[in-house]
Amino acid sequence: MTTIAPSLLAADFADLGRQIALAEEGGADWLHLDVMDGHFVPNLTIGPPVIRSLRRRTALPFDVHLMISDPDRYIDDFRAAGADSITVHYETCHHLHRTVQKIRGTGARAGVCVNPATPESLLVEILPFVDMVLVMSVNPGFGGQTFIEASVEKIRRTAAMARDVKPGLYLEVDGGVDTTTAPRVTRAGANVLVAGQAIFGAPDIPGAVRALRAAAGA
Ligand code: DX5
Ligand code: ZN
Repeated sequence: MTTIAPSLLAADFADLGRQIALAEEGGADWLHLDVMDGHFVPNLTIGPPVIRSLRRRTALPFDVHLMISDPDRYIDDFRAAGADSITVHYETCHHLHRTVQKIRGTGARAGVCVNPATPESLLVEILPFVDMVLVMSVNPGFGGQTFIEASVEKIRRTAAMARDVKPGLYLEVDGGVDTTTAPRVTRAGANVLVAGQAIFGAPDIPGAVRALRAAAGA
């Protein structure tokens, strides 16, 4: 069963409560929340206050993707705001094991994300300690970008690596996921699909969630 995690980045920010309700109506499993700091990535988005407000509007698990430098500083804040999983970028963590332990210490699921230019093989030591690996299939910072083809093989290699060390790993893919790329990444081993433009950019949001699930094959 594929987990569908609509990314709120592509939603109408003046109407978030309603947009979330529409995604929920379509059967979304998680809500993917993109946090950007204008430092690690060239864009700014939301922080704990917005997440705290959204927490009161839905029971969907919050999948918080931190595209920020020095994420350790904010882990407690995001957990307190309502994050169910917290994903940090490999590229932002000097002491990744410590960061992952800190996330898990709050009771949240811990995820580690790799940029397109970061090889998944660098995750071999941390894999036993994480709940999720997020393979970026675009360069982080913006929605609506074109899926990077090499991500399919990267997902396949990550899935193979996890089979021995971490069965049951959430293997998430983020960037350019739509009804065309979804079946390809799920066949490669992804089991969590993030989609912004393909869901909130669609005229029929619940229908777009259902279409993505159908395309994913489960
Ligand atoms: C990009 C974010 C994504 C983004 C994906 O840096 O991490 O979650 O919203 O958007 P789409 O699905 O439109 O490529
Ligand atoms: Zn994201």
